[in-house]
Amino acid sequence: SISERVADLLSRMTVEEKIGQMLQLDARDDLDDHVLRRMAGSILHTSPERLIRANELTAQTRLRIPLIVGEDCIHGHSFWPGATIYPTQLGMAASWDAELVEKVARATAEEVAVTGIHWTFSPVLCIARDLRWGRISETFGEDPFLIGELASAMVRGYQGDGLADPTAILATAKHFAGYSETQGGRDASEADISRRKLRSWFLPPFERVAREGCRTFMLGYQTTDGVPITVNDWLLSDVLRGEWGYTGTLITDWDNIGRMVWEQHVQPDYTHAAAAAVKAGNDMVMNTPLFFEGALDAVARGLLSSADFDAAVARILTLKFELGLFENPRLPRDEVDAVVGSAAHADLNLQITRRSIVLLENDGTLPLSSDAPLRVAVVGPLADDAQTQLGDWAGGSGQAGWLDAQPREMITTVLDGLREVGGWSVRSAVGADILTFENGPDDLDPVPWDRKFVPAEPDTEQIAEAVALAAASDVVVAVVGDRIELNGEGRSTATLELLGGQNALLDALIAAGTPVVVVLMASKPLVLPASVSKASAVIWAANPGMQGGRALAEIISGAVEPSGRLPISFARHVGQQPTYYNQIRGQHGDRYADLTQSPAWAFGEGLSYSTVAYSDLAVESAALGRDDSVVAHVTVMNTGARPVRETVQVYVRDAVTSVSWADKELKAYCQVDLAPGESARVRIELPVADCTIVDAAGRRLVEAGEFALLVGPSSRDEVLLSAAFTVS
Ligand code: IFM
Repeated sequence: SISERVADLLSRMTVEEKIGQMLQLDARDDLDDHVLRRMAGSILHTSPERLIRANELTAQTRLRIPLIVGEDCIHGHSFWPGATIYPTQLGMAASWDAELVEKVARATAEEVAVTGIHWTFSPVLCIARDLRWGRISETFGEDPFLIGELASAMVRGYQGDGLADPTAILATAKHFAGYSETQGGRDASEADISRRKLRSWFLPPFERVAREGCRTFMLGYQTTDGVPITVNDWLLSDVLRGEWGYTGTLITDWDNIGRMVWEQHVQPDYTHAAAAAVKAGNDMVMNTPLFFEGALDAVARGLLSSADFDAAVARILTLKFELGLFENPRLPRDEVDAVVGSAAHADLNLQITRRSIVLLENDGTLPLSSDAPLRVAVVGPLADDAQTQLGDWAGGSGQAGWLDAQPREMITTVLDGLREVGGWSVRSAVGADILTFENGPDDLDPVPWDRKFVPAEPDTEQIAEAVALAAASDVVVAVVGDRIELNGEGRSTATLELLGGQNALLDALIAAGTPVVVVLMASKPLVLPASVSKASAVIWAANPGMQGGRALAEIISGAVEPSGRLPISFARHVGQQPTYYNQIRGQHGDRYADLTQSPAWAFGEGLSYSTVAYSDLAVESAALGRDDSVVAHVTVMNTGARPVRETVQVYVRDAVTSVSWADKELKAYCQVDLAPGESARVRIELPVADCTIVDAAGRRLVEAGEFALLVGPSSRDEVLLSAAFTVS
């Protein structure tokens, strides 16, 4: 059995080999040193050549234990030339479609596995609250329930039918836990967060995937209440391993162990840092090469014994045996070309991209008629920017920027899409220089944490050209947003405004009088200028991936109905942070004197080209016990002239709670397709056991009393129907 093979191998390993087995090192560095001297058990950030070389080196080691290879393939394979790049996780979250997300993860696993990689550092379960944080695009947004649904789907997709399946890869739930609760949105700053708050909102998605069998967890960079997560006994031992019974593998984030020495200054040296990390239960150590020397020294000084490494090494070896790596090291296989970037995956990509685009405003200008010979002006810095469209962790951009760019012909930009789809006369003054930086993306390797990306002076000539083109056109599609300099790990922003000359561009275009469709291609909700209230339509597209331009053009033309719903709220001003919908009930004074606290667009919002009416919400029984379910029905009717896919959202409000609590929380949702004039009676069944709060002692429980079931098209109170029920 696997456990016998693990025990046998472990019994033959020297302490050096055990320590090495815990190391995951950067394949871009000295591979010979990593594999032959430090005997690393794992590598990340590979390339086809590095993979082959690393495996040759492994064959020269005493025990020839195969390497396990990890990579950040978080919305498609992050570096293989020609791999399929889907919308970012935030973009996919706007589909609210767990089934489709699972299919994307499955297809990604197929592409990743066939290239000889066994482990993806995905999904991200962080809760996006402060929009200034640089990693918003990597999340599923702001709601723990939606995050749990989609993360669980992704884990199922990656891990498939089990690790013995050659198309299965390990999933990683990251970043455990509370990492996103930054100070001022600054990445990796202290997560000032109480245990009760962790239990209330930040831990539930992790608990769900832990219980459902996500095989690995990555610990974030954060320090909580003074304790780096790497040595946080309460979270790692009491909660994760203890309460949840998690038996999977823990991996640190990048040099977490070294950071305790040189950055956080909570350990005097690598010896003590290594000893503390091992004792706290870390299994794999990402990119702290000196863990090897530190841990050996800890053994020499009696701080650790050889047996202290056994649990971690056993977990790592178990994964390798389960993946079948001893028999088949899973190098890039012959079928690579058939699987990577296949037509079937491109089709799946188009499906999810269509579903992830959110129509926020529309005065009736959209859909644009394809019959009339419209003159469409396509302007803005992102209208034809293939790499920005892919987002972070994708070939040629962002964290994966050290790798090859994806072939341009695989990417449909908005300009390409509008040319292909509508049958219009598409004219372009693209205006790439309206958003440029003094430091370009080529300077991103290695990622310069202390570099400020200063937008270059707006190119006023290009703005003037765009305005002249707009004046001679019937409609303008203006594609604005952010670029990779403003998005990603270590790249949080102090502002949420459109930078460069983008506000000036929009102001000028909108003032010119031709109807303007604003397409916001942005890694996160950005604040649009006041002039946009006079735009004809606003669309949010996140970083929509390779098919982004095609899906946008199809929606603009009406070939596809818009159906995306926001997984995250949009602020009106950066100072309004945070704007997430499920904040605890405020008190008098919990607002600004100079600005409403309501978001520009709220969680759950999104328009269709039709209209939908909700009516007759009724609960079957309003008096319930804790073991019952709330069963309710609501009528949803398509009252417009076009088909819709409606996302019926179900929130719960607990009228009186023993501790202050969120005013309402999403507890369920479903999606219904309705033809014009069609209505459906939607059945909702929600276990009372889900209507919980976390009390002052940190216990999750249902408190007896009155509740409201709130059902409607978004989290805004104005659009929700309400039905009362009591729990005794
Ligand atoms: O997986 C990532 C993590 O999310 C942030 N730090 C680096 C890791 C490996 O690239």
